[in-house]
Amino acid sequence: MGKPQLFSTHVLFDEPRKKLAEHFDVEYWTGNERPPRPELLKLVSGKNALISLLTEKIDAELLDAAGPNLRIVANVAVGFDNIDVPACTARKIAVTNTPGVLDETTADFTWTLLMAVARRLVEGDRMARSGAWTKWNLDQLCGTDVWGKTLGIIGLGRIGRAVARRASGFQMNIIYNSTKPAAPEIEKELHAEYMSRDQVFEQADFLSLHVPLNDATRGLVGPAELARMKRTAFLINTTRGPVVQETALIDALERGVIAGAALDVFEREPIIPDGLRRDNVVLAPHLGSASVETRTKMALIAVENAIAFFDGKRPPTILNPDVLRLGI
Ligand code: DGY
Repeated sequence: MGKPQLFSTHVLFDEPRKKLAEHFDVEYWTGNERPPRPELLKLVSGKNALISLLTEKIDAELLDAAGPNLRIVANVAVGFDNIDVPACTARKIAVTNTPGVLDETTADFTWTLLMAVARRLVEGDRMARSGAWTKWNLDQLCGTDVWGKTLGIIGLGRIGRAVARRASGFQMNIIYNSTKPAAPEIEKELHAEYMSRDQVFEQADFLSLHVPLNDATRGLVGPAELARMKRTAFLINTTRGPVVQETALIDALERGVIAGAALDVFEREPIIPDGLRRDNVVLAPHLGSASVETRTKMALIAVENAIAFFDGKRPPTILNPDVLRLGI
């Protein structure tokens, strides 16, 4: 019997590619842009396994286009809001993601954004690079202190905790809201205090979002939440764009309801509304986990999941283990 047929929507990195070649007949999408949908629907046809990025919508239409031989979708991301997991489960298709390996890297990037917006780094870079900097001045590009301020975290999961851990070096006061309070030993380690969501919005100087995107969190930050924030506060979003109501954020920035924002994610990526292109907003093109080390590890996890599945083992980070029970 030949090797299973796998389609990967990205060429991945050398190490995962080598591993894949040992176990699968692999076809890669090699285009620089993400695969256009009609092409993708053709390319998945008849495949046994699919490695996808968060840019690919894995829905019933795509699963139908793949046909009955598709057994696993291994997403190279911890977030899996691009995948209709129930539709996969109904077809006995395993779905996996890449938790754990990107927490520290994403926390680093959250701090990159936080510091950049607080200390006006991007504006300063623009001034220095353009030649517009003609003299030092006492009140030039004065930002906001980070040290000693209050960091509010919404969602104290792995990434939220990694963000909180970094705050102690800045002597910050840490408050958080999560679906439930963290264990006392975690609160103690992080010096973090549980509060209601409203209180976190009201008291934070820097409010960082670390909830996954799902029905409960879509649009979580809207006009009411922004209105609760201090006029001097900053919103940091490295999770998923639709967690924030972008029009409400633009309105709040225009009216000075909050001091600024630093955003790695957007409602309709890669579209960034003009209203967000402001000096007091730092913008990044979804770079949270983008280090070579971490992106390689993410790809390796996806590959290991696919290999485990076809070896008859439980994929290490399966999201819908019921499919294993259902018999394949
Ligand atoms: C994820 O993994 O969900 C990130 O958004 C990309 O690394």
